[in-house]
Amino acid sequence: MAEGIEIREAERPGDAFDIAEIHLAARMPYLHRAHTDDETRDWFARMVGGRSAAWWVALVENQIVGYMLIDGENLDHLYVRPGWQRRGIGLSLLNKAKAMSPQRLELWTFQRNSNARVFYETQGFRAVEYTDGRNEENEPDVKYEWKPVYSDMVIWTPRLELRPLRPEDAAEIFAAITPELTRFMAWEPPVRQPPWPGASPTRYRPWRLALTYTSLFD
Ligand SMILES: CC(C)(COP(=O)(O)OP(=O)(O)OC[C@H]1O[C@@H](n2cnc3c(N)ncnc32)[C@H](O)[C@@H]1OP(=O)(O)O)[C@@H](O)C(=O)NCCC(=O)NCCS
Repeated sequence: MAEGIEIREAERPGDAFDIAEIHLAARMPYLHRAHTDDETRDWFARMVGGRSAAWWVALVENQIVGYMLIDGENLDHLYVRPGWQRRGIGLSLLNKAKAMSPQRLELWTFQRNSNARVFYETQGFRAVEYTDGRNEENEPDVKYEWKPVYSDMVIWTPRLELRPLRPEDAAEIFAAITPELTRFMAWEPPVRQPPWPGASPTRYRPWRLALTYTSLFD
């Protein structure tokens, strides 16, 4: 994992050259070339930074080592400079994309791009659609989708933390509920039923609410 990765919005037109060079160097060598390299450079020079919160770059020691293009829920490009791959740069950009679109992300990649597919799959994306190559490159591709899972979620304020229960919480929770449970069992046996009418017993999930900071004035 690279130390000191900075993620910032791309600046126009200053970053377009680096972004184009990363794209040209990191693209898949087996792809049909729909454009010349100069056409690709021109496209980046016109597009980079043209829309707010769309183009992002990753820097290490002030050098641009990766970039992404995000359009709402659609992650359009994510490229890391060869030589800088497998050092956490792609992950830092992807985490920024998840923070910007926390409910859902989608992207297309080529079916043959096994490195990218493994990368996305390790980060919680799942394949949802395949085509036989309805794109400029005539290359079969696959659509991936990411949605947050509850176990990722933590709601935190300076005084409270709310997150799904973990196995290590069991003893503490048991100690907390035992007096209540004992009182409850004294008058009625527990029933195996969802907590409210219509709730699915399998989808219901207990959360842990913890006081992290007890005084407003410390
Ligand atoms: C795919 C790509 C964006 C990944 O970025 P990266 O900076 O190399 O990936 P990271 O270092 O952040 O990887 C994070 C984790 O993803 C997984 N991963 C990433 N690349 C992987 C690979 N080639 N094989 C297996 N696992 C991989 C690993 O779990 C990795 O963690 P680890 O290195 O601690 O094991 C980058 O390799 C790239 O730019 N490829 C060429 C362009 C491209 O194909 N872009 C995608 C177009 S849709």
